[in-house]
Amino acid sequence: MKNLTIRLETEKDYRAVENVTREAFWNQNVPGCDEHYLVHKMRTHADFLPELAFVLEKDGEIIGNIMYTKTRLVDERGNEKQILTFGPISVLPAYQRQGYGKMLIEHSFAKAAALGYDTIVIFGNPDNYVARGFKSSKKYNVCLEGDVFPSALLVKELRAGVLDGRRWYFCESPVGECCADEDGVAAFDATFPPKEKAWQPSQEEFYIHSHSAMVR
Ligand SMILES: CC(C)(COP(=O)(O)OP(=O)(O)OC[C@H]1O[C@@H](n2cnc3c(N)ncnc32)[C@H](O)[C@@H]1OP(=O)(O)O)[C@@H](O)C(=O)NCCC(=O)NCCS
Repeated sequence: MKNLTIRLETEKDYRAVENVTREAFWNQNVPGCDEHYLVHKMRTHADFLPELAFVLEKDGEIIGNIMYTKTRLVDERGNEKQILTFGPISVLPAYQRQGYGKMLIEHSFAKAAALGYDTIVIFGNPDNYVARGFKSSKKYNVCLEGDVFPSALLVKELRAGVLDGRRWYFCESPVGECCADEDGVAAFDATFPPKEKAWQPSQEEFYIHSHSAMVR
């Protein structure tokens, strides 16, 4: 498409990407958001993969991005498999639902496969991802400790059949733990223009998805 570029993030893009993230997530899951803080902290975490951090530019403006971290699956014998998780993925509100998220996801899938990765596991709203080939974790026998299959735990095989049906436990990267630092989140957010925290219906949808699990 004309005037559209997907390229790797550089240091010069950091603030613009954090702003896109804040705009995309603001009041989406909870009043306010902390995903821009996560983006800010993630880049120095050992699990972060700069080779899979992409920005989408339209007419020279960054309107979306996607970031990946390394994560692991462990089977019942303790064998480990290195896989990927992505997130946050963000598109500026004015550009949402026009196919830009799809472009970022498909571009990064191709790059991830070329780097040798074969599996992506995420927590996300299925509405956003089933069209990209993500399926319920239950279908791939991928669960959390305690044999729980969260409804929002979604799996994409970049190489068909690679998970082979055995039971896998998903070990999330600790990268998200930085967001427990509420003072850190608030201080970082204060470096952006003020925005009003408010309730919106998507927060109930988020609550439902993040508290649901597959039972059969
Ligand atoms: C989620 C997000 C990254 C998706 O990017 P986007 O550019 O808006 O999405 P796209 O237009 O590429 O559509 C992606 C898929 O979402 C679904 N979708 C698109 N428009 C939709 C609509 N109006 N209603 C419901 N689902 C829709 C479709 O499945 C679509 O795939 P398809 O076009 O192949 O059918 C973007 O909306 C966003 O930044 N949202 C706020 C932050 C967020 O929630 N991030 C993800 C956390 S899980």
